[in-house]
Amino acid sequence: MSDWNEGYVTEIDYNFGYYSMLNPAFARLPLAMAGLACPRFRTACELGFGQGLSTNLHAAASVTQWFGTDFNPSQAAFAQELAAASGARATLYDEAFADFCTRADLPDFDFIGLHGIWSWVSDENRASIVNFIRRKLRVGGVVYVSYNTLPGWSAFAPMQHLMMQYDDAMGAQGRGLPSRIDDAISFAQKLLGANPGYGRLNPQIGERFKTIMGQNRQYLAHEYFNRTWDPMYFATMAEWLAPAKLRYACSSKYADHLDEANLTPEHRAFLAEVPDATLRDFIMNQSFRTDYWVKGPRVLTEVERADALQDIRIIMTRPRPQDALKMRGALGDITIGGPLYAALLDQLADHKPRSLGELAVALKGLNFKWRMLGEAIMGLVCAGQVSMAQDEEVIKQARGTSDKLNAYLMRKARSQTPITTLSSPVTGSGVHCSRMDQLFLLAVGDGVRTPEALARFAWSILSANGERLTREGAPLETAEANLGALTVQGEKFLKETLPTFEALQISGHRTVDAA
Ligand SMILES: C[S@@+](CC[C@H](N)C(=O)[O-])C[C@H]1O[C@@H](n2cnc3c(N)ncnc32)[C@H](O)[C@@H]1O
Repeated sequence: MSDWNEGYVTEIDYNFGYYSMLNPAFARLPLAMAGLACPRFRTACELGFGQGLSTNLHAAASVTQWFGTDFNPSQAAFAQELAAASGARATLYDEAFADFCTRADLPDFDFIGLHGIWSWVSDENRASIVNFIRRKLRVGGVVYVSYNTLPGWSAFAPMQHLMMQYDDAMGAQGRGLPSRIDDAISFAQKLLGANPGYGRLNPQIGERFKTIMGQNRQYLAHEYFNRTWDPMYFATMAEWLAPAKLRYACSSKYADHLDEANLTPEHRAFLAEVPDATLRDFIMNQSFRTDYWVKGPRVLTEVERADALQDIRIIMTRPRPQDALKMRGALGDITIGGPLYAALLDQLADHKPRSLGELAVALKGLNFKWRMLGEAIMGLVCAGQVSMAQDEEVIKQARGTSDKLNAYLMRKARSQTPITTLSSPVTGSGVHCSRMDQLFLLAVGDGVRTPEALARFAWSILSANGERLTREGAPLETAEANLGALTVQGEKFLKETLPTFEALQISGHRTVDAA
């Protein structure tokens, strides 16, 4: 085993996940809804960026200057390759936190983010991170941090311990982590099969293992097989962050801001009496928190809050839905709708960014309060219908780096290991785009405009790789059958998807692709 990894899994690289909560611009709406001032995000830093997709997308799609580190050298190399491809201001290192956090050449930051790090690193690393935040986060700056939470993990924690113990005792290092993970899971299931007292008291654990069996080994390795795995209560987290002068601001999950989606009337009545984040975690049996913290939060007056909200811009990122929209909260799927939602969808249906101030003027007749408008926007974001939008000047400035990053990412769509997030200078964030839609975007960049020609373009790439489309699990064997299925997809793409991507300024420009 190498000695630089401090017990952290490095045998299996992390996946190519994208996390919008790491986008500083994403914090504006929840902070305003929580009645707190939000800084201008000039500089930002991500600690433990994994493959660096989020950092690079946020750097390329905005004018924020990014820094970051991840000590896994192959991941850092990929992240640096992305930064070079986009030409965005992203300076990325392969240093351990202890080294990076003491660098003397870093600027002060308005935003520091760490996703999937805190619960999986040692106390020494946590202390380095807190010290870094204390020294380098500007007053008024925002920290995003996610972590495994109690009480949500309390029933399963012994199983993580058991799997690690089993791997330590029985896992031959030469066998490779993926098969050792399978062995540890099988052993835990065998134990549960023997009907132990622990299993009888915690019958849900067996179900959880069924889910685990279906999860990818990259995720399982990084979630369960690190030397440190340390879920903590919210109150313990607040103690950890206090020396950095951080105060809790709000959850980064927009759904958490909508009480009806998460809490029964009884829960709400209880929390109204004792508003406490740990108690809310008990009520929701929270297992993972993703929060914003602020160094010196400044509480806004009602007027200031309305001002902050009305400057926020949004854009509709999908065709206007005809049916009721759904969003998911702790209480399950809920339908969102009503006159305010319908009027918002009508206003935004042309896929042009609008500020909440403009929307408030247009919808004046509906007689709503700012809070209701903010909550409706959060509901639309949760339903995947709407995204934040940047100012026109920023969109203009970010277009070049965003195009270059997209060109690099879309080239990967030609192979079988695509990355399914592209960059939008309009939203300043990553946007999901399936591999096939990326191939269609490339074709459109080549001047292709008919479903049949899109299909031929995509098929030329798939057939060269020996790939086939499938229907009901069975491969389509003939070229005609594949072209037919691709033509249907191409029609849908031209009608529904392309207009949205054009509005988001995501394109497969040939000129950039060739650069
Ligand atoms: C679970 S992954 C999360 C990656 C990324 N933040 C994401 O969510 O996609 C944790 C990352 O932290 C990095 N890491 C762990 N300990 C570290 C340390 N001491 N110094 C620097 N990076 C570290 C790992 O290499 C890994 O890429």
